Amino acid sequence: MFGADARYFTFFLEYVAGNDLSTSAVWRTPDDMFSGVKNDAMRIWEDISGALEYLHGKSVQHNDIKPANIIYSAARGAVLCDFGLASEARPTGLLTGGTPFYVPPEFLVKEQRNPPADVWAFGVTMLYILHHIPLPDARGAVRANAKRLYWQIHQVHQRDGSTSPARIDMQAWIDEVDTVVRGLDYKDSLARILRDMLTPHPDQRVSPSELRKRIQHEIWYTKHYKRQNVDRQTESSRPTKETGGWVRDPLLGSTTEENTEENTSVEGED
Ligand SMILES: Nc1ncnc2c1ncn2[C@@H]1O[C@H](COP(=O)(O)OP(=O)(O)OP(=O)(O)O)[C@@H](O)[C@H]1O
Ligand SMILES: [Mg+2]
Repeated sequence: MFGADARYFTFFLEYVAGNDLSTSAVWRTPDDMFSGVKNDAMRIWEDISGALEYLHGKSVQHNDIKPANIIYSAARGAVLCDFGLASEARPTGLLTGGTPFYVPPEFLVKEQRNPPADVWAFGVTMLYILHHIPLPDARGAVRANAKRLYWQIHQVHQRDGSTSPARIDMQAWIDEVDTVVRGLDYKDSLARILRDMLTPHPDQRVSPSELRKRIQHEIWYTKHYKRQNVDRQTESSRPTKETGGWVRDPLLGSTTEENTEENTSVEGED
């Protein structure tokens, strides 16, 4: 946040030059798939893990993590916005705000939405960013190849104990997510991280700080491994003592920026 003026009930935020991840024709294809590439995905994963680590460290939960609330450009990275539903961590009352597709299974079972709920919502977001599912929100519209699915969060829990249509729809969606997660190839380390974000039990879900470390390790490993591979391929043209040292191949420059504290992106963070 840049500043505030109580006289006009106004506060000033950084304008983030980028589009949110649900923007059609920019980050979303006509069939509602994310249009970015793996470098985009890794940057988003790292930046938003850092943002969640920061927020949860301040005992704040966001409550509406989803592609539409993440602004991204390759130059700026990913920035979390829309704190309209943010609350203190572990709120005592029932939270019924947010976006149905990103609400975690513990809400269905125990009416619970604590900080691990943000990790679940980010996990669903990452299923979209890694091209495993179309934009979940698009299920609320009639689609050619899937049944329309939409419900109101506050209708999931009926006070008379009966099973509401909203509860049935939410369960159907959680089952769909579960099917996608079970279908991932766990030989792939990124799939294992997704699985750990989308673990049904909130206490067993990966924490944002652990998540950020694992993603940063993946980014480091990819850079390092690729570099070694290219080095091996250019071994035959290795310069001799006479011709001088290594000549750095410009293609080896990584498109992923170094991880710094400054890259932790929360809109309005001061
Ligand atoms: N600081 C910012 N810089 C640039 N764009 C922003 C910024 N904050 C929000 N936006 C854009 O405006 C959109 C709506 O903002 P926000 O998510 O905060 O409001 P909202 O309550 O969700 O509004 P809406 O009624 O559109 O859902 C975001 O999805 C994002 O695309
Ligand atoms: Mg929003």
